[in-house]
Amino acid sequence: MLELATTLAALHFGAPALYLLYLRAAPKKPLQPAAIYPKVAVVVPTYNEARNIEAKLEDIYSQSYPRDRMSIYVVDSASTDGTAEAAERWAAGRKDVRVVVLREPERRGKAHALNTALAHLADEEVVVVTDADSRWLDRDTLRKAVAYLAAADAVSCLKKPAGGGPTEEAYRTWYNRLRLAESLVHSTPVFHGELAAFRREAIAGGFPEDVGADDSYAAIRIAIEGGRAVTPPDVWCIEAVPQRGYARWRLRRAQHLIQTFARALPKVAKAPPPYRAILAAEAYLHLFNPWLLPAAAALAAASGPPGLALLAAGAAALLYKPYRAWVAGQIYLMAAALRNIWNKELIWQKQEKPPP
Ligand code: GDD
Ligand code: MN
Repeated sequence: MLELATTLAALHFGAPALYLLYLRAAPKKPLQPAAIYPKVAVVVPTYNEARNIEAKLEDIYSQSYPRDRMSIYVVDSASTDGTAEAAERWAAGRKDVRVVVLREPERRGKAHALNTALAHLADEEVVVVTDADSRWLDRDTLRKAVAYLAAADAVSCLKKPAGGGPTEEAYRTWYNRLRLAESLVHSTPVFHGELAAFRREAIAGGFPEDVGADDSYAAIRIAIEGGRAVTPPDVWCIEAVPQRGYARWRLRRAQHLIQTFARALPKVAKAPPPYRAILAAEAYLHLFNPWLLPAAAALAAASGPPGLALLAAGAAALLYKPYRAWVAGQIYLMAAALRNIWNKELIWQKQEKPPP
């Protein structure tokens, strides 16, 4: 029994390490940015973002991207705090950028709102989605992201957490490293709402309204169909981390990622070869690998003193930050899989964050 416990534990911790080694060894396709300036639609979905919308609009407005090649679409889903009015007020004072405020009569979720925006686009060739409470790292972020669309179909950002603890930072460091490595091999299946840019043709099918991580699922679909969805090394977003409701927030996001990978799983075989391994590995890491941990712990506990000693060592190792972050991530994924059974959180209550 102790052998089985150690085998499961080795598999659990070895799988991500092997995956990283694989990504390092796999042949690379360079990301090739070019100075292109297609017409861009920047889409901001909002539900009760009165606190954030003006700063977000300023963030977009102050970008170095040519203003006459950019339109801003705010899609508001019946906010009750005057978000749409605040956006309109802001727009009235900025005549040198085109702003369209779309109002949905009822709240039907972020993905539904994004699809409403897609239905109202003019002749833009690129669609960039950005959350109202997020900030781009510098004023060249949009220009850089679009540049990578010269040779890719979708581009997202790396994330700098703001206001999170050391655990959050350790988690993000590894997350960013993976996103980059996957992007260099082919595509990354994990996209971020802070900045998700798509060539318009690539997103013509719209965003899925029944999986929470609309952006990640869109990226996966694009890569399965032969396109490329990447996070380049120099496109960064700042992610505000909620001070209250942190666990709820992590849980919801884990739920959404699980929905995404569960939906993608049957399509792994159809993915082009270099991406197939990435998608299979990420689906495995999100859906199956976490469960090996409690299985190994239970078997170790049941196998007497040597097993218990091993378990105690595993618990003591929690003092080590990256390991603690890893274990916390596994717990979120397992709790999320269970919670998905009764509540998919497709329309969620916001966890308030300090302005980034
Ligand atoms: N129009 C509209 N309608 N917008 C919405 C709705 C809705 O029903 N629900 C949320 N939004 C907007 C928010 O106003 C915000 O601009 C953005 O969608 C993200 O929502 P947050 O509440 O800030 O969630 P988060 O920061 O945890 O979001 C992250 O995880 C989500 C998946 O769990 C981001 O990565 C999101 O893009 C992602 O969808
Ligand atoms: Mn947010």
